[in-house]
Amino acid sequence: MHTSKHDVLVIGGGIIGLVTAWRAAQRGLSTAVADPAPGGGAAHVAAGMLAAVTELQYGEQTLLDLNLASAARYPDFTAELSAATGLDTGYRRCGTLAVALDADDRAQLRDLHAFQTSLGLEAQWLSGRDCRRLEPLLAPGVRGGLRVEGDHQVDPRRLAAALLRAAELAGVRLLRSAVARVECAADRVTGAVLADGTVVAAGRTVLAAGSESGRIAGVPADVLPPVRPVKGQILRLRIPPTHAPFLSRTVRAVVRGSHVYLVPRENGELVLGATSEEFGWDTTVTAGGVYELLRDAHELVPGITELPLTETLAGLRPASPDNAPLLGRTALDGLLLATGHHRNGVLLTPVTGDVMAEVLTSDTGELPAYAGAFGAQRFAAARQEQTV
Ligand code: GLY
Repeated sequence: MHTSKHDVLVIGGGIIGLVTAWRAAQRGLSTAVADPAPGGGAAHVAAGMLAAVTELQYGEQTLLDLNLASAARYPDFTAELSAATGLDTGYRRCGTLAVALDADDRAQLRDLHAFQTSLGLEAQWLSGRDCRRLEPLLAPGVRGGLRVEGDHQVDPRRLAAALLRAAELAGVRLLRSAVARVECAADRVTGAVLADGTVVAAGRTVLAAGSESGRIAGVPADVLPPVRPVKGQILRLRIPPTHAPFLSRTVRAVVRGSHVYLVPRENGELVLGATSEEFGWDTTVTAGGVYELLRDAHELVPGITELPLTETLAGLRPASPDNAPLLGRTALDGLLLATGHHRNGVLLTPVTGDVMAEVLTSDTGELPAYAGAFGAQRFAAARQEQTV
């Protein structure tokens, strides 16, 4: 039996777990990450839209502030990662165009524009013709759109690889095993036992296991985070040099009421996503999911059918009851959360790293003021009432 002792154990080596570990190690904390395949998780599937404005949802204005704060960190964050590792994250300041296909879609986008404007966000309304001037391969039927110059993209797989390397270089110990159970003694979490038998003792344990965070053995039921998996199916296509430039920016669309997005990368990859399905932990790619994505994308950009389809994949977004992240201390001493990021995990990675580093190193363990609305315990009272 191996034993390992650290200031901080992070359960989950996805981008949220890795950024937490990297930032903690940079602040001088001895840190380990437990994950059988670090650098994987939902980010391996995600498209990497950094679309705080284009993906704005009604009722999520508080989350918008955190999303914008994280988007603003991206240039320095990716520059720091690249300088530390020599790896490129694929951060691309290309802007986003959100378009509408029929009259109802156009009305929906007009409402979104009014909402964005009421919040002081920058988004420019364009006619269908102006949309096609920007992106000539859009279908003639496109009725109008929103040009959002501040919404960019990153390549989540490259981001994960860079975070993994940065964490290692900062001294983070990678424990390539699943967690068998979290260990508690005298009403505090003391670390975890891994599936390979390693016993990890830690002053603080951070649960950053994405959609698995709500079912980690050993965590008392009333402390387990209320996180549910939301499945997203996604496709990857390749733009041959003969077809470039295919799209010059991210294109999002409402196509007869359903949402689809196309994220073109500089390396010729085109990511097409994504479904949103609540079917538990199932990650099957279905004919129906692929059909719907291709059908909608084809209505939007007919030339898509000529491109080689290179990958179909499904992943699980970790969603909290209000779709915003759960950060910081739980009711159980020694246990913290960094999970529940739902549709915004990639976008929120830089700010999550900063928040968690602050919580892990401050005397009080409080969240910084800008993240105060995203405390890990904000659903605890309601859950206790439900169990009484
Ligand atoms: N933010 C894009 C998605 O979750 O599909």
